Amino acid sequence: MRIAVGQMEPSVTDVDANLSKVKSLLKEAEGNQVDVLVLPELCNSGYVFENLEEAESTAEDIPSGIFSKELLTWSRKDRLVVAGICEQTPEGLYNSAAAFAHGTHSITYRKIHLFLNERDWFLAGNEEPPVIEFMNAKFGVMICFDWAFPEMARILTLKGAHVILHPANLVLPYCQQAMVTRSIENSVYTATANRIGTERGIEFSGNSQITNTIGTRLATLSEEEVGIAFIDIDPQEADNKCITKRNHVIHDRRPDVYTRLTKSD
Ligand code: ACM
Repeated sequence: MRIAVGQMEPSVTDVDANLSKVKSLLKEAEGNQVDVLVLPELCNSGYVFENLEEAESTAEDIPSGIFSKELLTWSRKDRLVVAGICEQTPEGLYNSAAAFAHGTHSITYRKIHLFLNERDWFLAGNEEPPVIEFMNAKFGVMICFDWAFPEMARILTLKGAHVILHPANLVLPYCQQAMVTRSIENSVYTATANRIGTERGIEFSGNSQITNTIGTRLATLSEEEVGIAFIDIDPQEADNKCITKRNHVIHDRRPDVYTRLTKSD
């Protein structure tokens, strides 16, 4: 199975420009026979809004919006694509990741850990992160700042994810390294698709990456590159959770001692 991360520089509020940037990543992925593609967080809208009206002006319904339709069309040829979308719903906006597989909309995950000013325009999701089945493998989805909460990758692993798909607009410099750790502690692949550029004074770090189950970076893009990076993987390698001959990262857990984790303070 060939998996890719796409890296781009969205322009804040310029939906038409963003659509053409996304189309060119879809084309590059198609030309390279990619089966599974991850695109950055909020790739339809840009990130640094100045007010709610700006965010609303870019948002779309999933799956009837123009980005959703484009992604759905790309997925028709037995492909899976997950992309970050500024989502309009009757109750308000969400920072969402939508997955399209085999020409249908399969899931929408609404980011539960909002970063900085995201709280001013987005509602927080309240659902556990989802897993999608595709080509006999399972793909978990989380968004950007979810990286800072290791519970997210663990929940996805416990739900059977072989690969964690991770649309991002990374600001803090720690995530790429943290995702290496998420891979190792869960024995899963991860694919982080980040954006590049500086938007209204906020710098994004690029360096999109795909890691394997022991934290090796299999494919990377630089801080400034636009385009895709891809690699062929065997997702079933993530079924092996043995970190030594006698240690299993799931079976060796001690939830009886972890009761504090389910309390909120
Ligand atoms: C982030 O969650 N976009 C930093």
